[in-house]
Amino acid sequence: MRFSGDPTVFGNLPLDATCEEAVVESLHNRKYNGYCPSVGIKEARQAVADYVSTPTSQVEAEDVILTSGCSHGLEMLISCLADPGQNILLPRPGFSLYKTIAVSLGIRVKFYDLLPERSWEIDLQQLESLIDDSTAAIVVCNPSNPCGSVFSEEHMRDILTTVARHSLPLIADEIYEHFVFSGFKYHSFASLSEDVPILASGGLTKRFLIPGWRMGWIVVNDRHDALSEVRIGLQKLSTRILGPNTLVQGALPRILRDTPDSFYRQTIDYIEENAQEFYRTFRELPGLHPVMPQGAMYMMVGIDMDSYPEFHSDVDFTERLVTEESVFCLPATCFEYPNFFRVVLTVPKEKVTEACQRMRNFCEHHFQPTTVRNGNGCAIQAGIALNGSYSAEELQTVPGK
Ligand SMILES: Cc1ncc(COP(=O)(O)O)c(C=O)c1O
Repeated sequence: MRFSGDPTVFGNLPLDATCEEAVVESLHNRKYNGYCPSVGIKEARQAVADYVSTPTSQVEAEDVILTSGCSHGLEMLISCLADPGQNILLPRPGFSLYKTIAVSLGIRVKFYDLLPERSWEIDLQQLESLIDDSTAAIVVCNPSNPCGSVFSEEHMRDILTTVARHSLPLIADEIYEHFVFSGFKYHSFASLSEDVPILASGGLTKRFLIPGWRMGWIVVNDRHDALSEVRIGLQKLSTRILGPNTLVQGALPRILRDTPDSFYRQTIDYIEENAQEFYRTFRELPGLHPVMPQGAMYMMVGIDMDSYPEFHSDVDFTERLVTEESVFCLPATCFEYPNFFRVVLTVPKEKVTEACQRMRNFCEHHFQPTTVRNGNGCAIQAGIALNGSYSAEELQTVPGK
């Protein structure tokens, strides 16, 4: 039972018919078989501009560069903004691609912490302490992979105030834009700032459930002409691989304009129900501390390692879980955050129920009660993050929690 970040794996979350029809139309049109401008065709760029613009952040086609998935956008942004020897600030836990790209380019990385006890908000004081003269940009991811968190407007404004103090550009990974559970609201970073230059990267991958179509974009939200040189740099970088395939560019305006809201809602409701089932189960399992997500497709679960003395690490724990129960979860060491694992929420409901049962077997089999667990800090750290499940004091007294 493999829980991968690709929502198409099990076939339970089909794409909307609009996407298929738009590509068929684009194919039959015969206008989209050739090369196109390296930054993308004008109509498709304008469609993205219309899609991401808000009353407080208006962009036009010339502010958009189409990319081969969001990964390509991130690669272009990091290459363009930082020189070898400079540093960029990355979230911890965070999507591992940021580090992979930066390190391969000789760019140094520094990690700022996300706080589980505050639903994975950024520790802004610690972030600010990392900024130095060689800092070139700050990367933020909202909604988050791997945390499933969605920042509140207030927290986003605090982030932007902090970034503005240092006149740095923000790289906003918004590939999970609008992917928020009921009761939460999505804001783009660009919609909340008039001063911070924001380079947002998004795409069709997650919200439209078509990662294989490799359609992403960069949106340049310039402020006070701070990004004129960056625009030139991005334009030059786009010529290296000539962006995403033309056929999907031809389909993009229709996809973005006509996909019905009911499709988005159905997908999110499905994932939220899975999140609730996993959360209910993990809360009951001894030595596990789930942090209820607010959006995206993931949940992080803390492991009280003192309660599982057989295992040396989250890697060890998840390896044994897959060996004994065939349930694969990613150890959060992959996200620079040991003693947690990440669960993917897009799997079919019957597999969620089965996985919950197998994880129950696994935990009940390996758990060893201890009276006071504060050895690695995980239990206490995760416990206060549980949106009302256990306080730090309770964690010390409730057997198995
Ligand atoms: C946070 C985040 N950013 C970027 C990507 C890459 O997206 P794409 O497949 O469009 O390149 C992913 C994919 O899982 C992701 O989780």
